[in-house]
Amino acid sequence: MIFLKIVKKGHSKHIYQQIYEELKKSILERKITVNEKLPSKRNLAEQLNVSVNSVSNAYEQLLAEGYIYTIERKGYFVENITQYIDQHEARAVNFPIDLKEQHHDKGGWLSLSHMTSDISMFPFKKWLKCQNEAIKNHRQELSEITSPQGPYIVRKTISRMIALTRGVKCEPEQIIIGGGTQPLVRQFMTLLKGNTKVAIENPGYSRIHALLKSMKFDVAPINLDKKGIDMKEIESINPKILFITPSHQFPTGIIMPISRRIELLNWAAHSNDRYIVEDDYDSEFKYGTDNIPSLQSLDRHHRVIYTGTFSKTLLPSFRISYIVLPPKLLREYRNFYSNWIQGSNSFSLFTLHYFIESGEYERHIKRMNHHYEMKRKLLIKQLQATFKDDIEIKNVPAGLHFLAHFKKNKRYEDINEKAKQEKLEIYSIERFNLDSKYKKDETSISLVMGFATIKTEEIPEAVNRLYRIIN
Ligand SMILES: Cc1ncc(COP(=O)(O)O)c(C=O)c1O
Repeated sequence: MIFLKIVKKGHSKHIYQQIYEELKKSILERKITVNEKLPSKRNLAEQLNVSVNSVSNAYEQLLAEGYIYTIERKGYFVENITQYIDQHEARAVNFPIDLKEQHHDKGGWLSLSHMTSDISMFPFKKWLKCQNEAIKNHRQELSEITSPQGPYIVRKTISRMIALTRGVKCEPEQIIIGGGTQPLVRQFMTLLKGNTKVAIENPGYSRIHALLKSMKFDVAPINLDKKGIDMKEIESINPKILFITPSHQFPTGIIMPISRRIELLNWAAHSNDRYIVEDDYDSEFKYGTDNIPSLQSLDRHHRVIYTGTFSKTLLPSFRISYIVLPPKLLREYRNFYSNWIQGSNSFSLFTLHYFIESGEYERHIKRMNHHYEMKRKLLIKQLQATFKDDIEIKNVPAGLHFLAHFKKNKRYEDINEKAKQEKLEIYSIERFNLDSKYKKDETSISLVMGFATIKTEEIPEAVNRLYRIIN
């Protein structure tokens, strides 16, 4: 006779779940012995005064999970279940406090982050219309996984677009779409042998620097001169792969002149295992000049790996980025990643395709160019009016951020602490200094000022907070 505690009314669990759990407990605690026969479904149902169905469902679940076994025409028996070596349940110990995530209330905060775009101007209605087109025209493909490189028609659209706007010369076959620049860089850098020496601009994009280091590459930060990355240092360090942001150096804003671009391409052309990774992250935004052609457009020897993103032009939360690989690397990529599953959401990618094809993307960028230009000017004006002679702004009319130097000697730790108190999101140059031997300039503070997300009417308040932080 088996005793099970079953509550028929007011219990949060179904009767069959209660029978299942009670039996499971008895089996695990060896209250029912190994190979013991369980009562027939009908007998147990009568004993508990429940339906045969409830007992049947409980037995089926126990059978599926391996607690019992069945012998045809004989009934159900208890399995010999492997015991844990250690009866102590370590998981019951509290979750480590240092791994707990802090959820900050963003209420009252203002942001001068460079990692944002302005959602107030995003044409969601148009985007939804393009989503409908994607559903209408790609029903079948939405039920399948796509090519490892992303849907071909989306790559074709991107290749046409970057040919027009950035002069990038490529076939759709050369494009690989991914959920961010970092995962894409990780993918193609995996193709390179260990011990490869790579170099990156300093100051530069710390996330890529950290990624390369985590991949155990020998990473050398290279200083900048007025034209961008320093050629002499490149020659002396002699890297195989060079990471640069020639359209709008991150974070200083330098636009690399044509002569340095050609010097770099000549350097890369010297050997067929040298590559330049051109991170073209925000080149769509130029105020007062036309777009400057990409480095890839000038490359005559397939030495440039181009990376682009929709994080600045659309929204960073969409996570749509892409790379353009030269044919030799593409062949290696295809061999290595033949079993790869594309990581981006095809629904968003088809939507993007219609967004570009309908001309909406181009119109959006034009609108955003005017809007960002206006905000940029306003922020600069407000900063100059507030800080007067104590500020020097690197006024490069491009992108979604600029660098500002404040004549003040303060530690960045104190600036960050004060920024928290003032509820202002800001990023100092320290974050982007990649050289471990870096020493702070004693006479000034340098901040990367992003103006994408801040609302026009919030600019004066943000600058007031900044004034209190710095002074
Ligand atoms: C220098 C730089 N490169 C690339 C990116 C784009 O990254 P993702 O495509 O992963 O959004 C950013 C984003 O802020 C950036 O600052």
